Amino acid sequence: MRVQQKTLKDLFIDQLKDIYFAEKQIYKTLPKLVQAAESAELKKAFTDHRVQTEDHISRLETVFEMLGKSPQAKTCEAIKGIMTEGDETIEEYGESEAIDAGLVASGQAVEHYEMARYGTLIAWAKQLAMPDAAKLFAATLQEEKAADQLLTKIGLGAVNKKSAAA
Ligand SMILES: [Fe+2]
Repeated sequence: MRVQQKTLKDLFIDQLKDIYFAEKQIYKTLPKLVQAAESAELKKAFTDHRVQTEDHISRLETVFEMLGKSPQAKTCEAIKGIMTEGDETIEEYGESEAIDAGLVASGQAVEHYEMARYGTLIAWAKQLAMPDAAKLFAATLQEEKAADQLLTKIGLGAVNKKSAAA
């Protein structure tokens, strides 16, 4: 017998609060990555992704509205951990030739976390008969995937350039 009365919808709302926290945190942190990046290409990628992140946040707010709830964030320990690692990279490699490779790695860790979350949210939204929410999540997921692919490309460039110079 189940002791708790919690439902998939409760879990869905919790997850929504988690990614809402994460997106806001990402929005706040991206300027630091822009600042730390060496190449103009990487600076631009982070700057552009910050603009997209504004949309990610407002799409989540729309889903809260659909649920009749005001937007609420719940501390996401995972994103905090990923960001602490990013800070360490900047601290330890900020003045080195490896900084862009390190920042690409941090950015990709963030994107993959988000991709995992949005993938799950899409499935649950469909399950909960919220196709419009699923569509909003899918639009964001596409942008996270594109950002990840761009980072892969920039990362290869950063690594190749350094090994050519060595
Ligand atoms: Fe995002």
